[in-house]
Amino acid sequence: MRILYSARMDNRPALPPEIARRRTFAIISHPDAGKTTLTEKFLLFGGAIQMAGQVRAKVEARRTRSDFMQMEKDRGISVSASAMSFDFKNFRFNLVDTPGHSDFSEDTYRTLTAVDAAVMVIDGAKGVESQTRKLFEVCRLRDLPILTFCNKMDRESRDTFEIIDEIQENLAIDVTPASWPIGVGREFLGCYDLLRDRLELIDRADRNRVAESIAIDGLDDPKIAEHVPPHLLEKLREEVEMARELLPALDPQAVLEGHMTPIWFGSAINSFGVRELMEGIGTYGPEPQVQKAQPREIAPEEGKVAGFVFKVQANMDPKHRDRVAFVRMASGHFERGMKLTHVRTKKTMAISNPVLFLASDRELADEAWAGDIIGIPNHGQLRIGDTLTEGELLRVAGIPSFAPELLQTCRAGDPMKAKHLDKALSQFAEEGAAKVFKPTFGSGFIVGVVGALQFEVLASRIEMEYGLPVRFEPSQFTSARWMAGDKAAVDAFAAKNKQHVATDNDGDLVYLTRMQWDIDRVERDHPEIRLTATKEMM
Ligand code: G4P
Repeated sequence: MRILYSARMDNRPALPPEIARRRTFAIISHPDAGKTTLTEKFLLFGGAIQMAGQVRAKVEARRTRSDFMQMEKDRGISVSASAMSFDFKNFRFNLVDTPGHSDFSEDTYRTLTAVDAAVMVIDGAKGVESQTRKLFEVCRLRDLPILTFCNKMDRESRDTFEIIDEIQENLAIDVTPASWPIGVGREFLGCYDLLRDRLELIDRADRNRVAESIAIDGLDDPKIAEHVPPHLLEKLREEVEMARELLPALDPQAVLEGHMTPIWFGSAINSFGVRELMEGIGTYGPEPQVQKAQPREIAPEEGKVAGFVFKVQANMDPKHRDRVAFVRMASGHFERGMKLTHVRTKKTMAISNPVLFLASDRELADEAWAGDIIGIPNHGQLRIGDTLTEGELLRVAGIPSFAPELLQTCRAGDPMKAKHLDKALSQFAEEGAAKVFKPTFGSGFIVGVVGALQFEVLASRIEMEYGLPVRFEPSQFTSARWMAGDKAAVDAFAAKNKQHVATDNDGDLVYLTRMQWDIDRVERDHPEIRLTATKEMM
């Protein structure tokens, strides 16, 4: 079998084939651009589902299961992220789903720490939209390679050059066309594959089928006229000539470094362009990458297993209080039943029932390689940022926690139930759904989130999952900062300013205030103390 994958980004040794064939990525897009539809077609071509419609049907079934999920549906947001694995040609794809709504940016950010690349989906009529831009910026912080899919070409869409220009200008990244659309809207016939000189034509009769590709010998091959009417052919020739002159040619290294994005045009709903995109992810997308960690980096080819938790989802099944920690394998070959060291607590955990996520079913994972995502059911031992290894005390770095932008006081409807509230809130803090601060002075809890909608989501989850009605009320504070620097100075400051100090769920000290001015003043008056808006979860 021909090996499609490209050279590695650096001069590291070749990866074992099982690892080298893995592509772990997320889709970033603005709501409605077609992420769900594209995911479904990935699974269809990946053989994970038999018929398009299954994923959506399952999503619908899940959404209607409860009031909380109903709220998700009404608001058109997806709160829960999951991971899906499937094979395509000789690649193993691991697709990590990112929540789409801007209120959940922290969760999204952490999800993006677990992938090696992103597929950016844009709507051909709308171009780069706000949420795409935000997510793109997050990818840029990590220099993630990005492959672009311009969707909905079967509808009236913008001029191809205009779309490419908009991406280049708006996102400051070089764009190279991997395919070129022939006609738009009702006249959309398919694409000319610029990488392989092939015609790919859309099959409008069956949305789940793709027509055979037609090999041609360049745009001057007379065979092309059998498939493309003269007016479209003339336009195609002109545009391709211009594109080759004006736009940069595909440079695989620049793609891997995140400076260039190849763009494919298609129509996810018609399954068109999806296969070429998948081949593109395989060929130009990165293999599992080296993971930053302390005190040393973790390379995927290392013989020993290491992995880190980037997401915790609690109460996936309301009947069992289970939590699933989503672990990105950073190195080695994991086998079910392995005993791994939980580095934060230095305890050993036997991983006896790890799960893989195939489409939306869970399946027991007998093995996993660097690059894979597995779910580990647990009772709260595993937290976001935790590292699991075969004994070495390594800690994966770079999984951030952000200072919340909104703070409110949370009280139990029934004061006798404050203990239960403590438990519920600390669970949500561990899941990463909110920051929970316990003031050192006075009672109650201060809950911090990034978007206002999260207070509503929390209130309804606490009521649903713990049977505990709660109230969120305005807090006297508006900002929270972690306190770092000289420990003695921090402790002395905390003892003197009890009414402004709280502890977070890990017991770390936090300074609460109403004004940025206060933060500046503390830093000026106490140069040995740093007030930080992010904390690395370790
Ligand atoms: P999202 O996850 O990014 O939010 O988008 P989703 O896939 O749900 O797609 C949003 C809408 O766009 C859906 O229509 C979907 O059918 C449609 N769509 C996706 N890909 C294409 C495409 O290639 N061409 C066209 N014309 N439409 C596309 P909807 O009306 O909201 O849902 P439905 O009634 O079709 O299920």
